[in-house]
Amino acid sequence: MPRSVKDITSKKDSTKISVITAYDYTTALLCDKAGIDILLVGDSGGMVMLGYENTIPVTMEQMCFFTEAVSRGRQNSMIVADLPFMSYQASKSQAIENSGRLIKSGADAVKLEGGREVAETVRAIVKTGIPVMGHIGLQPQTTVLQEGYKVQAKTKDAALELIEDAKALEEAGAFSIALEMVTQEVAKIITDSIKIPTIGIGSGPDCDGQVLVFHDVVGLYEKIKPKFVKRYLELSQEIVKAVESYKSDITSGKFPSKEHCFSIDKSELERLKREIA
Ligand code: KIV
Repeated sequence: MPRSVKDITSKKDSTKISVITAYDYTTALLCDKAGIDILLVGDSGGMVMLGYENTIPVTMEQMCFFTEAVSRGRQNSMIVADLPFMSYQASKSQAIENSGRLIKSGADAVKLEGGREVAETVRAIVKTGIPVMGHIGLQPQTTVLQEGYKVQAKTKDAALELIEDAKALEEAGAFSIALEMVTQEVAKIITDSIKIPTIGIGSGPDCDGQVLVFHDVVGLYEKIKPKFVKRYLELSQEIVKAVESYKSDITSGKFPSKEHCFSIDKSELERLKREIA
């Protein structure tokens, strides 16, 4: 059975929650096998899978496509899928309808960016029975239009705003909140001041869980290398090396060798040759 909202929320103050992004069947299968609590079908997929500069162009169709693939690969992890830019801001009914599309595609919950300004939208989605993860601090969908990617909550006033946002999301019924690039001291204050788990990305060790983009964890995305990422592999280098060897084996005739080939019976081959002759 996949992990439920209750499994995740009950980890607050006990076990740390592990979250990683996934956008396709194979990655979901592997991360699920590794015991990850939550597979996040993030709109970061638009950057690392589709090559966009940022998450703004990502569509509902693309998010549903990623979510369906991930749901075919998971067994035990919970799936949270991102509502992309402009799929929930226009109205509550738009937010509910698009949340429903992600759930029908295989998600167990949805995530959306914003604090107090989206609290009523969160409440409306939760009221339909769809669990919601909030996302505050750096909000890639809109920060990129304003100040760019910057560390959040560096002043007392900014920190107070963020604490209010977290409380509003909790009050609206969110089951957890992602905190992106928040100063670690403020992330701890937020984590201590709400009852739902916080999932940090670049927000220090005191959050209730941690999330990273899969491509960063395995070293597959070279364009941006944030300070907060820990790379456990340098997979892109290994892949280039492997493909270079493949190419060189083709040109030298080393591949395919006997072990990669299929044969017809000798007698059948003789009959064939006679007939052709
Ligand atoms: O889209 C994403 O990958 C995210 C994480 C950065 C939290 O929202």
